[in-house]
Amino acid sequence: MDISNIDYSERIPNNVDLRSDRRLQRALERWQPNYLDWWRSMGPEGFQEDHVYLRTAISVDAKGWAHFDYVKMPDYRWGIFLTPSENDRKIAFGDHLGRDAWDQVPGEYRNLLRRIIVTQADTEPASVEQQRLLGQTAPSLYDLRNLFQVNVEEGRHLWAMVYLLHRYFGREGREEAEELLERQAGNPDKPRILNVFNEPIEDWLSFFCFAMFTDRDGKFQLGALAESGFSPLARTTRFMLTEEAHHLFVGQTGVERVIRRTAEMMNGDDDANVRPLGGIPLDLIQRYINRWFSLSLDLFGSEVSSNAATFFAQSLKGRFDETRRHEDHRALDEGLIIPVVRGGKLINEEVPLRKAMNESLRDSYIADCEKALVRWNRELKKAKLTYRFTLPNRRFHRHQGEYADHFFSPEGDLMDEMDWRAREDEWLATSDDRAYVASLMECVIEPGRFANWIAPPKRGINNQAIDHAYVKFSGHDRK
Ligand SMILES: [Fe+2]
Ligand SMILES: [Fe+2]
Repeated sequence: MDISNIDYSERIPNNVDLRSDRRLQRALERWQPNYLDWWRSMGPEGFQEDHVYLRTAISVDAKGWAHFDYVKMPDYRWGIFLTPSENDRKIAFGDHLGRDAWDQVPGEYRNLLRRIIVTQADTEPASVEQQRLLGQTAPSLYDLRNLFQVNVEEGRHLWAMVYLLHRYFGREGREEAEELLERQAGNPDKPRILNVFNEPIEDWLSFFCFAMFTDRDGKFQLGALAESGFSPLARTTRFMLTEEAHHLFVGQTGVERVIRRTAEMMNGDDDANVRPLGGIPLDLIQRYINRWFSLSLDLFGSEVSSNAATFFAQSLKGRFDETRRHEDHRALDEGLIIPVVRGGKLINEEVPLRKAMNESLRDSYIADCEKALVRWNRELKKAKLTYRFTLPNRRFHRHQGEYADHFFSPEGDLMDEMDWRAREDEWLATSDDRAYVASLMECVIEPGRFANWIAPPKRGINNQAIDHAYVKFSGHDRK
């Protein structure tokens, strides 16, 4: 069969010749109704019968893999899509550098690999759960559609990971797949694994920040896994990355449109107060950035990590773009300087590079975030405003790693807790900020109309007009 094309005649669309492995196919077909139950109960609330202009993958070619059409979300064709296997693929980093890549799980790495996959998998349904009520306050049909596109694709990413668990990890893998539908974002008894995936996303500015900063962690985690010596994981995550790009676009341009609208209301006056006009003040946006950026930084794990060293040594998880961006793929000789707190002072410590792999990935992530900041600031400059957004220092407001038990200003200076607490409200979105943003949220479902607090996008989806009916309602009552 042609690997780049996806078989849609099957109950589970796939390009992995699922039909040839009946046991696996049956196991996944048993999981499928549980997934759909989860989608109906934990997915977007109130829009399951509506027709949404969604893209669906029809091939894994880099160009033109997407097909756009109106789909009811529960009818979305979630499936299993891997990029084609490379003949003769070699391992690109770690202790196994240069050896044949693995098509099966190496027995001695089974548990570690399962843990890596489950941790990634858990984030996918989590974000759908976190975002389930947002449709009810969508600022436009364009945004509503984008939210749902992100949601169905996160559901597909869950499928991507569950396929690996079922196919390569036997009964334990199947049990993990069940548990992925049982944990719930924010549930105190059975929360999602990683902290930021339990945080509520209660308004659209939070959603855009989440898609900008937290989905971007996904880009870098998936990028590191796309280098894995375990080829099925590499091939799965490569295709996920192509879908992920749209999520990042939604986040980055979403924040950008809020900034553009606020700047428009400020009309060149740095002291203008946009609250009476129903706009979102720039300093409030900065506090949202500080919150979501710092929460997302925690996802990369500890600055100094022997787990990260093990993942790299065992050729399971590389660095971002390992092959193209790095030369020494064993990473045995170099070190990385990491500022750490010792005796109440911040001092530089050199850490063997393998132990600093999380920090290396965090470096790549921060550099990527900076690019968006440049674009956002360009909006301010164009509007003749002097305000500029900044990313807080990586040590600010951390709950994981070296800096978790200390207090740092957004500039990265060590502070004592009292002083920090006294200024916390200047730096992080306060309950007042959130209440104000919440007060602006309204559901706008007239094609081409946008809520007052956000500018329209520059263009529509898939060359459609901005006032295209991106969602067609089925006529039932809307709450
Ligand atoms: Fe995802
Ligand atoms: Fe995503």
